[in-house]
Amino acid sequence: MDLASFSAQLDALRDRALAAVAAATTPDALASVDTEVLGRKGALRALMAGIGGLPAEDRPQVGAMANPVREAIEAAIATRRDRLESIALEVRLAEEREDVTLPGRASWRGGLHPIRETEREIARVLGQFGFVVVDSPEVETDALNFEALNIPADHPARDLWDTIYVAEPATGAAAVAAATSDTARWLLRTHTSPGQIRAMRASEPPIRILTPGRCYRYEQVDASHGFEFFQVEGLMVDEGTSMATLRGLLDAFAHAMFGAGRPTRFRPGYYPFTEPSVAFDIQCVVCDGSGCPACGRSGWMTILGAGMVHPIVLANGGIDPERYQGFAFGMGTDRITMLRYAIRDIRAFLANDLRFVERF
Ligand code: DAH
Repeated sequence: MDLASFSAQLDALRDRALAAVAAATTPDALASVDTEVLGRKGALRALMAGIGGLPAEDRPQVGAMANPVREAIEAAIATRRDRLESIALEVRLAEEREDVTLPGRASWRGGLHPIRETEREIARVLGQFGFVVVDSPEVETDALNFEALNIPADHPARDLWDTIYVAEPATGAAAVAAATSDTARWLLRTHTSPGQIRAMRASEPPIRILTPGRCYRYEQVDASHGFEFFQVEGLMVDEGTSMATLRGLLDAFAHAMFGAGRPTRFRPGYYPFTEPSVAFDIQCVVCDGSGCPACGRSGWMTILGAGMVHPIVLANGGIDPERYQGFAFGMGTDRITMLRYAIRDIRAFLANDLRFVERF
């Protein structure tokens, strides 16, 4: 090899390299060109390896010729790399661009369970008559759930409440027992009525309270019975309280819940803790009284049980029955909710199906 042929090969190498650099469209392709031309086993090294055949006086010129070529190729690669990177950035920015004119995605908003909704509505309506909500425990004593409500052991009325007894008092419930000195058998309350006794023992008349909450019965579950369900209890104790007061209050309640003109009625009923006892009916909300399957063709629906608090129950609550009278009422929150929203199956409330609860 002589200097002229070396120079020609060098030029050819440079032209090929620059063309390859220009043709590289990705950083990877550019990196391969870099390795193939400038790498340790690259074309430039290979060419330089051949200079051993040149006369000694020509050798200094070799470096002077080769260096600018190497630099030109390096510069071309650097420029090309910048260009490819800025293209990649532009592509990414274009892809990730936010279209600010698109409508936003609404975020999901939680809501109250229909049972809770109804509880609140009941409390709102009766709150206008001075009733306040108080809490009462779900784990209760036999003494308060039954005995104090004038339902002694072996009383046939106990058949109305198929009871789930619990072996050990839950923590908290034990503390409640210590405070009330009602020990003995523990159960899951079968109704919210023991809240009456607790309220009477906790305060002096006048009393106007509501105790909403969960109740339990050993029930065969079907579309209208759950073993776990909800009630709202009401209690008023004062001087001069009468059935007329009760009727007036319940009428106002029914009209607020089910429409102003809705007819109501009292029917005789029986509960051990009230005397007299009544069932309170509203005209059927489905057929408006003409008779349909929902009301058993009677045209009426019972929405709660009520009555004047039995003197024995007042006395059990520490209240003088000679001086005070009271009335109480208890309603199924599930049933009232079913009537308000035309829900056919009580099991829907506790099935945790989001499609159901999202309707409200
Ligand atoms: N505790 C009754 C039940 O669960 C409902 C009830 C009826 C409550 C009459 C009352 C009442 O306060 O006076 O079936």
